[in-house]
Amino acid sequence: MLQGGNGERDSFSNKFGVLAALAGSAIGLGNIWRFPYVVGQNGGGAFLLIYVIFVAAIGIPVMMSEFVIGRSAQLNPVGAFKKIAPGTKWHLVGMLGVVSVFIIFAFYTVVAGWTLEYVVQSIRWILNPEKFGFASMDNAALTQFFSNHYESFTSGLWRPIIWFVVMMLLTGYIVISGVKNGIEKFSKILMPVFLVLLLILVLRSVTLEGGRQGLVFLFKPDFTHFKEAPFRIILEALGQAFFSLSIGMGTLITYGSYIRKKENLAGTAISVVVADTSVAIIAGLAIFPAVFAFGIDPGEGPELVYKTLPVIFQNMPGGLIWAFMFFLLLCFAAITSTISMLEVIVAYFSEQLNMSRKKATILSMISVGFLGILCTASSDVFGFFNASPDLMLPLGGFFIVVFIGWFFARDKSKKELSSEGSYKIRYHSLFMFLVKFVAPLAIAFLFALGVYSKVITLFPGLG
Ligand code: PHE
Repeated sequence: MLQGGNGERDSFSNKFGVLAALAGSAIGLGNIWRFPYVVGQNGGGAFLLIYVIFVAAIGIPVMMSEFVIGRSAQLNPVGAFKKIAPGTKWHLVGMLGVVSVFIIFAFYTVVAGWTLEYVVQSIRWILNPEKFGFASMDNAALTQFFSNHYESFTSGLWRPIIWFVVMMLLTGYIVISGVKNGIEKFSKILMPVFLVLLLILVLRSVTLEGGRQGLVFLFKPDFTHFKEAPFRIILEALGQAFFSLSIGMGTLITYGSYIRKKENLAGTAISVVVADTSVAIIAGLAIFPAVFAFGIDPGEGPELVYKTLPVIFQNMPGGLIWAFMFFLLLCFAAITSTISMLEVIVAYFSEQLNMSRKKATILSMISVGFLGILCTASSDVFGFFNASPDLMLPLGGFFIVVFIGWFFARDKSKKELSSEGSYKIRYHSLFMFLVKFVAPLAIAFLFALGVYSKVITLFPGLG
């Protein structure tokens, strides 16, 4: 097992382990909770189209760059830059990553805690259907019921805090157990089960009467909404792509450092990106038909999943048993992501500050814990942090591709990507072109315009 920076370094054991852990990190609340409501708020199909372009053209090169940095250095994001670019300021990019992870981890774990509330409540709902009178409710009444539940839960003080702490402890437990015996082991079990359940749900949702409109909304690019605030929407698509792929903050530098030398990095990156994007679209397929069938506003926001899905479940044979299973599995998908965030901070503390893994884990949990509790208590803090990926991650991603494109020797990235010549990498020139020019220019340009348009919306006087 990995003990601080000394001894043999822990790693993922085989290809399936690598994919489970990486897909586990990428697939999570970002796909099932954040993606549908961001799509809903930004006009549907047009947003999806831009999103997919960003994922392919920018996401893949950034992800491969993180793998190259992590695996060649065999260290956490800060240590990695210190090792491969000694005596420079590049390690600050690693530091920016650790700070971004810190912030995202806090609000993410709050929302992950909500899934536990819903797991427990579904049990109550299943056991006492008469008490809640579900049988006599039509869809409008059901929607009202679940909306009320959501509001009263999230505005309360203690329950969100308790569930947050529970999530944090579960995450800590897995991370303390190590990369292979904790992270990999849990991801291999939790991810496949999650996928099967999601598919069943989609089948139910797309066959709902009146659901067709939801498919049109998701897949038909309609640029009317887009024209109102194109640059803000573009930046949100970029931020969502980074968030969903877990890139731009060194999570995949850290996981990359646990990938064994013989694994093919490009193939791994492509598989993870395809899996993550498919799951986001599948989640959209589960949600939008139901949203339209039940007359819910797709632009509702972060509460979309928590208010909408229970109504679909109640419409299925077996009813809220599905809700129970779904929220349990959403919680699993979230845990395979929270462990990847905690691992970044733990690797940083243990390797850079020379702590034991256990001490590093406990210290990280306590420090993130304060921030998380602040998020549960104030919707402003929560909203602020939830919006931060749009800005921090593209910035981190920009420096990562610039580093690989311009400062990391070309033959070194070739050596790493080809696993010292074991794989033919005819794509290397294309990769270099993407990380040198396309990705950095695109990110810089979109970032600048996006920030400009956000500022203009906040301070209209400047425009
Ligand atoms: N990619 C994860 C998701 O979509 C979130 C995440 C962000 C995970 C940052 C790790 C680091 O849910």
